Amino acid sequence: MGAKGNVLRLLIVDDEEAARYGMRRALSTFGYEISEAESAEAARILVEKQQPDLLLLDMNLPGASGLDLLRELQDEKKEAPLVVIITAHGSERMAVEAVKSGAYDYLSKPFEVDDLRLVVNNALETIRLRRENRSLRRRIESEDVKRGALLGVSGAMERVRSMIEKVAETDATVLVRGESGTGKELVAREIHDRSSTRRDGAFVAVNCAALPAELIESELFGHEKGAFTGASARRQGKFEQADGGTLFLDEIGDMSANVQAKLLRALEERRIERLGGTESIPVNVRIVSATHRPLEQEISNGNFRADLFYRLRVVTIEIPPLRERREDIPVLAESFAQLSAEKFSLPVRPIAQTALRTLIDYDWHGNVRELRNAIERAVIFAEGDEIRERDMPEEIKPSQARVQTKQIGEEGEEMLDVPFTASFRDDRKEFERRYIARCLEETGGNVTRAAAILGMHRQSLQHKLRELGLARRYVSLAEKEQE
Ligand SMILES: Nc1ncnc2c1ncn2[C@@H]1O[C@H](COP(=O)(O)OP(=O)(O)OP(=O)(O)O)[C@@H](O)[C@H]1O
Ligand SMILES: [Mg+2]
Repeated sequence: MGAKGNVLRLLIVDDEEAARYGMRRALSTFGYEISEAESAEAARILVEKQQPDLLLLDMNLPGASGLDLLRELQDEKKEAPLVVIITAHGSERMAVEAVKSGAYDYLSKPFEVDDLRLVVNNALETIRLRRENRSLRRRIESEDVKRGALLGVSGAMERVRSMIEKVAETDATVLVRGESGTGKELVAREIHDRSSTRRDGAFVAVNCAALPAELIESELFGHEKGAFTGASARRQGKFEQADGGTLFLDEIGDMSANVQAKLLRALEERRIERLGGTESIPVNVRIVSATHRPLEQEISNGNFRADLFYRLRVVTIEIPPLRERREDIPVLAESFAQLSAEKFSLPVRPIAQTALRTLIDYDWHGNVRELRNAIERAVIFAEGDEIRERDMPEEIKPSQARVQTKQIGEEGEEMLDVPFTASFRDDRKEFERRYIARCLEETGGNVTRAAAILGMHRQSLQHKLRELGLARRYVSLAEKEQE
């Protein structure tokens, strides 16, 4: 008995020393760690300090009632200990009240030693199960990460997840859009895994960009023996392999006109023909496709069929680039750090705060994949307790000058987007106002530093702030600085 290395802790709360002694003795053979408290106050302190698993709590304590203490414990957010209430004979109503308030069980005085042991052992069995459950859940959660669950706390990722959930149980055709490395394939897999009717079928991925046009056709639809030179045997295509499951068509924008036409037909008829064959084979597949190309553009350029496009994007899931959901960076980074450490059998190190800041500030044009690679490298190079900035790839480390110009330049793009009133003077003023305000945000309102960044004299900047109507917000600060 007793979970390995996890001694169960008991706290006996009773104002009568003899009663405490009796209980301790009755339970002494089980190997629990037992402490005693003679009042609610003493119990509070011990609960805090020792975090017992179980309280044997006498209802009639001097001062605060045992019921108050019980309720107090239940209110605490962290895992509350189980409580077995001990009431005086004849106060069963109070015991019922206590159980309603969350007590695990009760005993009325006087009780037999065996009753005490039974109740305590039951309670501790419950605790043991709870612990086991918790560690199981933790294991499953980290399995999830390994399996590649979609991580992220941003509103954008929440929306992606909720769309996946909605669409998974349907057979709707889904188009996943996003820059390279944003997680399009992961989304496709998640749709497959969450579909109760399809997840036992295969998830078959075809990268349309990786194969020459002639091969793509036989890849998708298969061929009969002798269909073309080199077709020495009949071959099943990806459509047939994915029967009952999901077919993931990656880089759909790179398909030739001929394949587009065939694909459209397959989607409409839910049947395919192998190359060189005459048999029409029914296929039951859900299509998820992905592209990083602006397909609308490809349509107007005549490179992509509009009718196929509409077929493919019955539901569109858009994954924004990582730089537009920077709040996802910490969770992703931490999880990749853990996975990489496991992969290389290296110690799991937390990411230092400054390094995390750098990760958050970087623009990640290669998105999550680039982040993953950067972390992997950092994990390999890290020494000491933490993963630091110096362990990261060179290109993501900011030089001081670059940070400043980069941040302002970035905002500059948005700021160029000023309302166009066709009055150059007004629009320029608006631009200056936003530009300078943004710069002051960056410096936390420090006008001297802002002036240095903008390459202006401080007095000129102050003058400018007055002119632009920003003085009230910033000049008083500047004047304080001057003192
Ligand atoms: N939200 C996420 N949570 C966890 N891992 C992610 C997430 N998004 C992407 N990844 C990981 O990033 C890497 C790139 O993802 P994926 O291959 O799905 O991107 P993609 O959009 O298909 O890229 P490409 O356009 O280059 O094919 C993978 O290792 C994937 O597991
Ligand atoms: Mg991909």
